[in-house]
Amino acid sequence: MADETTTIVIMGATGDLAQRKLLPALFELRCNAGCPEDLRVVGFARTELTDEAFREFMWKGVQEFSSLAIHKHEWDDFAQHLFYVTGSLDEEADIAALGERLNALEGDSGSANRLFYLSISPTLFEATLTNMKATGIADEADGWRRVVIEKPFGRDLASAQALNRTVHNVFREDQVYRIDHYLGKETVQNLMVFRFGNTMFEPIWNRQYVESVQITVAEEVSVGERAGYYDQSGVIRDMIQNHLLQILTMIAMEPPSGVDADSLRNRKVDVLKSIRRWTPEEAVKNAVSAQYEGYLSEPNITPDSTTPSYVALRLYVDTWRWQGVPFYLRSGKSMSDKVSEVVVQFKQPPSVMFGLAHDTDLNPNLLAMCLQPDEGAHLRFEVKVPGQGMTMQSKDMEFHYDDAFGEQAIADAYERLLQDALQGDPALFIRSDHIEEAWRIVDPLLQAWESSSNHKPERYVPGTWGPAAADALLAENGHAWITVCGQHDDEAG
Ligand code: BG6
Repeated sequence: MADETTTIVIMGATGDLAQRKLLPALFELRCNAGCPEDLRVVGFARTELTDEAFREFMWKGVQEFSSLAIHKHEWDDFAQHLFYVTGSLDEEADIAALGERLNALEGDSGSANRLFYLSISPTLFEATLTNMKATGIADEADGWRRVVIEKPFGRDLASAQALNRTVHNVFREDQVYRIDHYLGKETVQNLMVFRFGNTMFEPIWNRQYVESVQITVAEEVSVGERAGYYDQSGVIRDMIQNHLLQILTMIAMEPPSGVDADSLRNRKVDVLKSIRRWTPEEAVKNAVSAQYEGYLSEPNITPDSTTPSYVALRLYVDTWRWQGVPFYLRSGKSMSDKVSEVVVQFKQPPSVMFGLAHDTDLNPNLLAMCLQPDEGAHLRFEVKVPGQGMTMQSKDMEFHYDDAFGEQAIADAYERLLQDALQGDPALFIRSDHIEEAWRIVDPLLQAWESSSNHKPERYVPGTWGPAAADALLAENGHAWITVCGQHDDEAG
C-alpha cells in the first residue's frame, strides 16, 4: 500500500461524523503508518469553506476527539493533504466539479485509487449515486474505486432493496463497504476469538447448557441534537437492525471456515435466516417499545410522536444449536448507564443437594462479555462461603482490557474499519443480503407499531433501566434482566 496514491472523498464532510470520527481516525491511522503514504482527503458538502477553513474545522475535531497525544507539527503535515469542494450532492454539475478537482489533485493519471465515503442523509442517496454515475466520478480506471456507506441503509426491506439496486448501478458488490461501526470494535471482534480460540466455551455454547442470552446496548445520553433524525428512525432502525443484530450473529453463528469475508459473512447470514419470523401480531407479543419521559418535549420531536427511544425484544434462533433459547435484546437512550454487554445465562444445575429445600434455586452461572466501556469479561460462579456450612455466594472471575493491555490499547472502531476499506478487506462490512435479512427480522414489528394508531409506547423515567413491561416480557419465561459489566466482584449477588 505504501507506494499507492489514494484519495478519500468524504461526501457530507461538514457533518458530525466526519469531524468527530473520520478525521481523527484517519489522522491516527496516518500516525500509526496504517494508510497509504500518498493519501489525500477531499471533503465535499454544501457549506462554503476554503481548504484552509476545512483544515481548521477538522483540527478542532482531532484535538477534541482523538485519543492520541497530538503533536501540532504532525497535524500540520497531515493537513496539507486535506482539501475541500463546496457543492450539493443532488446537483450533477457540482459532482462534476468535484470530479475535476479530484483529477487535478491526482494529476489526471487515472492510477489513483478513490474511496468514496457517503456520510449523508438517506434522502440524498439516490440523487448522489445517480450523479456519481452520470459524471463518471467513480468509473473504474487503473486505480480501484470503492464506496463506504454509512447507516441507516434503508428504512425497511423494500427501501433497502431499492437502495441496493441503486448502489449496484454504480458499484459492483465487491466495491461496496456498508459500515456498522460495532464491527470495528475490538471487543466485538473478540467474540470470535473468545468462542473459537478457546476449547472450554464452545462445547457448552448451545441449548443443552444455555438458558438465555441477553444483549444490552444502553446509553445515558438522550436524543439531544440528533432528535430530528432520531424521531424519524427510532431505536429499532438506529440500533437493533444493525448493531444488536450484528452482535447476535457473532454470538450465535456456527464456526466459519476462516476469517475471510465470505466465510464469515455466510455464517452470519445463516443466523439471520434462522431467526424465527414473526407475523406483525406475533412481533408485538415479543417486544416492548418505550419512550423516556420528556422525549416529546425535546426540540425537533413531533408533538405526538410514538417513536420508541427504548425497545426490548425476544428472538429465537431456530437451529439445532439454539432451538428454544430466548435471545433478549434491549437498547435505549436516557438509561441509567452507558454499557454494551452480552450475558450468557447457563442452566440451573439439574439437582439440588447441599441440604437445601427441593425448590431452592441456585444462582445460574453467567458469562458476561463487556463490549464497552469497561471492556473485558466476567465469569460468574458459586463459591462456598468459608465457615458457613454450604452457604453459597456468587463470585466473578474478571478480565479487563485496561489491566491486560493498557488503557490506550483499544483503537477507535473507525480506525480499524477505514484501514480495512483502504486495504480492500470487506470482512467487517455488511453484505447486501445481510442488510436485507436484518430488515426482514424487524420489519413486522415496525409494521405493527407504525400502522396502528392504537400503538402507544410505554414510558420510562430517564436514568433508569427502562419500563416495567420489559421486565414482564422476560418474566414470561421466568427470566430477569441482568447487568454484570462494570460491577465489581463484591457487588455480585
Ligand atoms: C450510532 C447510533 O450508530 O451508534 C447512535 O446512530 C448511537 O444513536 C451510537 O448513539 C452508539 O455508538 P457507541 O459506539 O457509542 O456505542
